[in-house]
Amino acid sequence: MNNDILKTLYSKEDIQTACKRLGKEISTFYKGKTPIVIGVLKGSMFFMADLVRYADIYMELDFMDVSSYHGGLSSSGEVKLVTDITKDVSGRDILIVEDIVDTGRTLKFLMDTLKDRGAKSIEVCSLLDKPSGRVVEASSKFVGFEVPNEFVVGYGLDYDEKYRNLPYIGVLKPEIYSTK
Ligand code: IMP
Repeated sequence: MNNDILKTLYSKEDIQTACKRLGKEISTFYKGKTPIVIGVLKGSMFFMADLVRYADIYMELDFMDVSSYHGGLSSSGEVKLVTDITKDVSGRDILIVEDIVDTGRTLKFLMDTLKDRGAKSIEVCSLLDKPSGRVVEASSKFVGFEVPNEFVVGYGLDYDEKYRNLPYIGVLKPEIYSTK
């Protein structure tokens, strides 16, 4: 699997440093509150696990699964709710944890959905942000790294459901796409 990677963008250590910083920022922001932290599956699984353990506040954890990709490089444009959260969000402070914000469609869908359900506040923590990919307006309050317009894999992020278990974030060799 490692042989398919052209270059590493963020090492294990880079990612942990970012998680630590974000965990502190979140602890300061939510001091005295108990937010519901919602991880967006499956891409945010490792980030969510690391991030919340660097936060020193009370919080409740939940997960949502949405789909907008067909296992390839580009978004289909349509976002669907695959698995819903189990908690009532009305009157609650919500922190959405995302792996990456690209077109912004997933985030907009989630924010609209949670707003409709009466959430008191909704903020976003995204490990990666790809502002050049933005199609709809959506922004994260807490961002790990701003990435260039490249397709990245690892630490939860996939290409065709693979590479999620890479412990770092990297860019695939072009031949991996072309031989698909
Ligand atoms: P958006 O709706 O276009 O903002 O895309 C959000 C979702 O698309 C993310 O949660 C990822 O699952 C996926 N995605 C976007 N860019 C990449 C990438 O570079 N690598 C892997 N997945 C990506």
